[in-house]
Amino acid sequence: MRPAARRNQDIAPFHVMELLARAQALEAQGRDIVHMEVGEPDFPTPAPIVRAAQAAIAAGKTYYTPALGLPELRQAIADFYLSRYGVQVPARRIVVTAGASGALTLALACLTEPGSRWLLADPGYPCNRHFVRVFEGEPVAVPVGPDDNFQLTPALLARHWDEQTAGALVASPANPTGTLLSASELEALAAAVRERDGHLLVDEIYHGLSYGQDCPSALATGEDLWVINSFSKYFQMTGWRLGWLVVPEPYLRDVEKLAQNLFIAPSTPAQHAALAAFAPETQAILEERRAILGARRDYLAPALERLGFRLAARPEGAFYLWCDSSALAADSFQLATRLLEEAGVAATPGLDFGQHQPERHMRFAYTTDQARLEEAVARLGRHLGR
Ligand SMILES: Cc1ncc(COP(=O)(O)O)c(C=O)c1O
Repeated sequence: MRPAARRNQDIAPFHVMELLARAQALEAQGRDIVHMEVGEPDFPTPAPIVRAAQAAIAAGKTYYTPALGLPELRQAIADFYLSRYGVQVPARRIVVTAGASGALTLALACLTEPGSRWLLADPGYPCNRHFVRVFEGEPVAVPVGPDDNFQLTPALLARHWDEQTAGALVASPANPTGTLLSASELEALAAAVRERDGHLLVDEIYHGLSYGQDCPSALATGEDLWVINSFSKYFQMTGWRLGWLVVPEPYLRDVEKLAQNLFIAPSTPAQHAALAAFAPETQAILEERRAILGARRDYLAPALERLGFRLAARPEGAFYLWCDSSALAADSFQLATRLLEEAGVAATPGLDFGQHQPERHMRFAYTTDQARLEEAVARLGRHLGR
C-alpha cells in the first residue's frame, strides 16, 4: 500500500497520552489518581453560556454562519478589546475559528511557503511545530530559559533569523511555563520582526488567566501583528471548539478564502453560546474562578518547592508550573512514570514540550481543586520522603 505522506513522520505523538492511558488503566483497576497533567480548566462552562447555547439550538440556530463567524460575535470580541484593553480593533479583522487550533491553522496556512522557517520557543506548545510542518514549513526550536523568562527576545531573533525565516510565534502567558511578555517586550519583538520584514504571531489563549498583573495584548503594539485567542481557557469552553484570529488587514481576503475552504464556518451553537461570554454575569463568574486559580497557584508553587522541585519559570499566568526536577531524578519521564505508578499523581514530563533540557523538567497543572492538590502534595511527600 502507498505510504502516508512523508511529513507524517515529523508529527510526534503526545508522550503524555501514554501516561494518560496508563493512568486510566490504573483507575480501571480501582486506583485513585490525582490528575495534574490536564491542560484544561476543571470548571464547567459558566451557566449563562450554556443557557445561550440551549436557547439558540431550541430556536433552530443550527445552520452555517458566514465563514468568518457571526457578525455580532465578531463585534462582541471587538467590544471586549476596547473595554478590557482599551484597544480599538475593527470587527472585520476578527475571524472566529475552531479554537486557537483553527486560528493557528489559518494563520500558518496563509503565511507559510514550503521551506520557510518559523522561530518557536523551546520549551513551547508542542502542536506549533506540527502546524508549521503540515504546511511544509520548517519549525526552528529556539532554546529559551530563565535568562529570557522562557520567551523569545530580539537578541534570540537576531541569532536565529535567516533568509528563509517567515516569522516568529510566541505565546503570552506561555504553555508550559506560564511566563508573560510585557508591553515593552512585545513592542521590542514586533520591531525586531518588522525590521526583518517578517510576521509576528502572538498566541494569547491564556489571556485573562494571570494572577497579580494583567496581560497586555499585542494588538496595542500594531496593526501588522497576528493575534490568536480562544474561548477554551479563560472562558472555560474547551469542548465547544471556538476561538478567534485577529488578522492584519492586507491578509483578510486570503484568510477568508482559506476559512471557507478548510472549515466552511465555525460551530453555530458554540458561537451563539459565546455571545453570552462577555455578559457582566459571566464575567463575574470567570473572575471568581480566576481568583480560585490564583489561590491554587499560591498554594502549589511553594509546596512543590518544599518537595524538592525547583520552579524553573516565574508562574505568572496560565495554570501551569514548570519545574526543574533534576534534584529528584535524572530523567523526568521516568520520574513522571514513577510518580504515577507509585504515588498516584499524574504530571506531564518535559519531553512533550521540546528538546531543550526536557529530561530536567516537568509541568504540573493546577486544574484540579484545592483538596485534590493537597492530596497530591501529601502523596508526593510520602513518595519522595519529604
Ligand atoms: C498555547 C496554546 N495554544 C493553543 C492551544 C489550542 O487550544 P484550543 O484549540 O482549545 O483553543 C493550546 C491548548 O492547550 C495551548 O496551550
